[in-house]
Amino acid sequence: MSDYHEPVMGREMLELLSVTDGGLYLDGTAGGGGHTRMILEKCETCRVIAVDRDPDALEEARGALADLRAGVRFVSARFDRAVSDPEIQDRGLDGALLDLGVSSRQLDADERGFTFRRGVKLDMRMEAKGPDAAAFLAQADEDELTRVFREFGEEPRARRLAREVVKRRATEPLSSSDDLVAAMAVTLRRSPGAKEKARIFQAVRIAVNEELESLEVGLPAIRDVLKVGGVMVVIAYHSLEDRVVKNAFREWSKACVCPPELPVCTCRGEPLGETLTRKVLRPLAEEVEKNPRARSARLRAWRRAA
Ligand SMILES: C[S@@+](CC[C@H](N)C(=O)[O-])C[C@H]1O[C@@H](n2cnc3c(N)ncnc32)[C@H](O)[C@@H]1O
Repeated sequence: MSDYHEPVMGREMLELLSVTDGGLYLDGTAGGGGHTRMILEKCETCRVIAVDRDPDALEEARGALADLRAGVRFVSARFDRAVSDPEIQDRGLDGALLDLGVSSRQLDADERGFTFRRGVKLDMRMEAKGPDAAAFLAQADEDELTRVFREFGEEPRARRLAREVVKRRATEPLSSSDDLVAAMAVTLRRSPGAKEKARIFQAVRIAVNEELESLEVGLPAIRDVLKVGGVMVVIAYHSLEDRVVKNAFREWSKACVCPPELPVCTCRGEPLGETLTRKVLRPLAEEVEKNPRARSARLRAWRRAA
């Protein structure tokens, strides 16, 4: 197995996906191909469409899955756009997996600029196109910066940090990890700890890559190409992402979604499917011990009805 990325909650994912012979599966966040490998090792006659928006990650997945190539097709795209793939549209999916966020490989590569390690040029783009983190910090106005630091970074001093960024960039752009950490240090009046830095850097990454937008569009798009009985499994690492997943699954599992003031039901009147994880699943302690990155994982699954 590739050491690229330990597949998080792989056992739980396989159990819920309950892969069937000849099935077509979407791995919307292929990364190092760990989960794709687990699906294909469980079911030799299955096919996986392995999608990643990061072309480098997809290249790694190609290498790591070379022995299973007959069962995989690689697609370089955001998962919310990959569902328009003709094979998916024609056949429909027997199951889909999203293992959100970034891989350890991306975080560990200084040249990708995701990390708060010292002297790293801020970039954070999963795809090598569009505005990077330095451009975001240069262009977003104070309100937008505040929203990102507060909502995505859960930063209590979000407004103060946004003001500090705006003040600093008037004389010199924030282009490296040190520049953002220095702005945090002024706001906090001390050096930020690793967890504080991680939260703010993650917040900027979520904004730069429009990660919540991709999820909000991707979830219903994937739902609509699931066959009857097809299962969607989502592993999230951020409470906001998990909330989007939880709310979507809850909404789709309701029989009636009419506003409460309506006297009679005029909507679809039946659930689109059922949530398979009544309570969110968390990784077992043994897994977290072996792979600390799994610590914040939250897994939810949903099955499409007729
Ligand atoms: C946590 S890793 C996945 C690891 C993978 N499950 C494995 O076992 O190796 C997340 C991957 O998803 C990709 N990614 C994140 N958001 C994406 C999106 N909206 N569309 C496509 N790929 C995405 C990232 O580039 C990264 O490679």
